[in-house]
Amino acid sequence: MTSVEDRARLVLGNWKMHGSLAENAALLQALRAADPAAHCEIGVCVPFPYLAQTAEALQGSAVSWGAQDVSAHAKGAYTGEVSAAMLQEFGCRWALAGHSERRSLHGETDQVVADKASAALQAGLTPVVCVGESLAEREGGDTLGVIERQLEPILALGADALSRMVLAYEPVWAIGTGRTATPEQAQEVHGAIRVALRGLGAGQVRVLYGGSVKAANAASLFAMTDIDGALVGGASLVAEEFLRIAAI
Ligand code: PGA
Repeated sequence: MTSVEDRARLVLGNWKMHGSLAENAALLQALRAADPAAHCEIGVCVPFPYLAQTAEALQGSAVSWGAQDVSAHAKGAYTGEVSAAMLQEFGCRWALAGHSERRSLHGETDQVVADKASAALQAGLTPVVCVGESLAEREGGDTLGVIERQLEPILALGADALSRMVLAYEPVWAIGTGRTATPEQAQEVHGAIRVALRGLGAGQVRVLYGGSVKAANAASLFAMTDIDGALVGGASLVAEEFLRIAAI
């Protein structure tokens, strides 16, 4: 019998603001041939202008795709924003919400992130809600408090909404720095998130780890009970490296 908490592994790439039509073509061609492990789902979150190229290249492959942000609004006078319905038209499965770069560089609050997640759900996308503490917050002993605060409006959406989301724990000090959280440091936070999810009857929600994940450190992170996959930045730009993570 399968447990209600059987959580298929998910490895998602976050290209950030990288790529060009020519560079993407080579990367997407390599991804098209992906043969991820049977227990692993795989996807890439690409810059908005490349969604059409990505959809065309990955259609029918094992790799799904999505965006790195989504508007909290359905439509209207929001210059520069992209709605969840627009993403859905390009076959997106995923929309990141609340990546730490959006929170710190664009002032996204915990409530705005929850509104973005709701908007994504409304359009049938799976929001991937990112949380994580800064180095100062970790050193101040406030890691779990920060995560709890960031998750509060997300958890308030309730078990049904949560069951259609993915969460990602990305300590800010580990993003793009080459400094990964140890598996134990990550598990401590993932375990706390799992307890909160279970308390709402949503223990099956997948919680990814992100922050300098590469093929060399992914296996030890994936070995942790409450780490259900990875959100991969830099290493997702190199097809071979990314696919090695998905093959674990
Ligand atoms: P990184 O980025 O793997 O390059 O550290 C992860 C992320 O920001 O999602």
